[in-house]
Amino acid sequence: MKDFLELAGQRQSSRGFTDKPVEHEKLVKCIEAARLAPSGCNAQPWSFVVVEKPDLVAEVAKATQQMGMNGWSSTAKAFVVVLEEHAVLMPAIRKLIESQYFAKADLGGAYLSICLEAASQGLGSCIIGIFDREHLAKTLDIPIEKTFAVVIALGYPDEEKIRQKVRKPLEEIARFL
Ligand SMILES: Cc1cc2nc3c(=O)[nH]c(=O)nc-3n(C[C@H](O)[C@H](O)[C@H](O)COP(=O)(O)O)c2cc1C
Repeated sequence: MKDFLELAGQRQSSRGFTDKPVEHEKLVKCIEAARLAPSGCNAQPWSFVVVEKPDLVAEVAKATQQMGMNGWSSTAKAFVVVLEEHAVLMPAIRKLIESQYFAKADLGGAYLSICLEAASQGLGSCIIGIFDREHLAKTLDIPIEKTFAVVIALGYPDEEKIRQKVRKPLEEIARFL
């Protein structure tokens, strides 16, 4: 089994993919990893649209190319659109906070799980936060009222090298008491 920190270090945003298609089974495993993610009250306020058909993949790529950004996404071989769903919280908790209070954090855990599972299978991924929701909704038949969280681009990375991570130092972000 791979050391978790090693896997976390290998996951990086891939912004260019080879022509090799992504196996359907690998995408299923990525969604299975998201399904296992924790969530507040175990509400699992998420759903996923996995886009594999080349004509739809091309349309999703277009939707992610806002204001000259993410041009590389045309090389992605698959996308996962991550949607926020209504969270049903436990009655006692519901009295204290509104239903979607934990949802953003829940989704972050779920979509990171997708990226980590992708990395463990040799796939590259990149989370994309800016995209044309209307285009996605129309192309993928998703109601426009839905909350679109992120789109994840997937494929075999065209760059083997693992970049040095640019992160705040441990001492700056944590206190051990
Ligand atoms: C919510 C979110 C939105 C992001 N949106 C984009 C994006 O639109 N385009 C892009 O190239 N990278 C995007 N990224 C990737 C970040 O730039 C990247 O995770 C960060 O720079 C750290 O680099 P690493 O993922 O290679 O470790 C996004 C990441 C997150 C978590």
